Amino acid sequence: MSTDNTTDASTETESKCGASEAQSASETESKAETETDTASKCGASKASSSTETTPDTSDDSASKCGASSSSSSSSSSSSSSCGASSSSDSSDEEEEVGSTVDDFDAEPGQLIAVGLGPGQPEGMTARARSALLDAEHIVGYTTYVDLLPDEITDGADDIYDTPMCGEVSRTEEAIDRALAGNDVAIIGSGDPNVYALAGLALEIIESKGATATMLDFDVVPGVPAAQSCAARVGAPLVNDTVSISLSDHLTDMPTIESRLHAAAKEGFTITIYNPWSRKRRDNYEKCCEILLEHRDPETPVGVVHAAGREDEQVEIVELGELPELGESDLVDMTTTLLVGNEDTYVWDDRMVTPRGYETKYDY
Ligand SMILES: C[S@@+](CC[C@H](N)C(=O)[O-])C[C@H]1O[C@@H](n2cnc3c(N)ncnc32)[C@H](O)[C@@H]1O
Repeated sequence: MSTDNTTDASTETESKCGASEAQSASETESKAETETDTASKCGASKASSSTETTPDTSDDSASKCGASSSSSSSSSSSSSSCGASSSSDSSDEEEEVGSTVDDFDAEPGQLIAVGLGPGQPEGMTARARSALLDAEHIVGYTTYVDLLPDEITDGADDIYDTPMCGEVSRTEEAIDRALAGNDVAIIGSGDPNVYALAGLALEIIESKGATATMLDFDVVPGVPAAQSCAARVGAPLVNDTVSISLSDHLTDMPTIESRLHAAAKEGFTITIYNPWSRKRRDNYEKCCEILLEHRDPETPVGVVHAAGREDEQVEIVELGELPELGESDLVDMTTTLLVGNEDTYVWDDRMVTPRGYETKYDY
């Protein structure tokens, strides 16, 4: 994981979470110049050495995957980090968890991980909506914050969003804000338990010497992409099924390949998450190759891009056509693939994976 301590130039330098003492010289100077914007809203009791003066002018470079001590949100409504987190000076250094529970004096607030579902407000559960309306601070990836309805963003005291990457720093920011006494929701698409931040949050809470109970940590489920995308193509996942992500950022490619072989060999229907990115097209190609080793090229595959969003696209194709789709707009990082098993067929433009009722009942 890469880290940096740059600040988005477009944002204010205010710390809404704020360490209460011992900032680094550069941060102190920066804050002296923006006196009215520097109020601490978080209240960790010590020591940040953030380099908040460094602007980030790049669009999508790794430098935006910042450590929480110093990255600030691209959103006009948000601000710099809590400040209790550790910081480092090099953009090449790994993200580190900095503050510990002892750095906070306040009575902790609550931390909830909320799944938004596929994207549009009507795809959110009533419980998720209500949890977000109650949250004082909302923390998330900019794309997901942008998906929130106005009634939620307008009602929050503060929103902290960061561009892609920076999951560790963003999650730590949420935890620090909760430890500082705020009720915080950390959001993500789909469900917090599916390639998402619920587990990371618990790991970081533990590493800080805090407890989940102390923060009244809770997970509010959302509809995962597998299910929202499956719904768009009929009934592809009705029997035993598995999910595999093609991202080798946190799982190495030999492991991903081995899991693809195992799932394809055993007749599971397979949901492929994170199918494609500019940096790792090879993984998609390798995945197609492995699936075709075990499955008939005519096996139906649902390809769902941006389910429930404005740019949604849905197609049902044959497995043999999948490799060439890697070159199309249909397959990117907002696409999920639903690979049928040997029983899956297409009827009336819908995928059907029989559950097995036909072996027991006449209909
Ligand atoms: C980091 S994972 C997050 C998964 C999410 N927590 C869930 O429960 O679905 C991101 C991947 O989820 C899938 N995804 C998320 N939202 C989607 C949507 N609206 N339409 C299609 N796929 C989506 C894509 O495969 C994307 O690469």
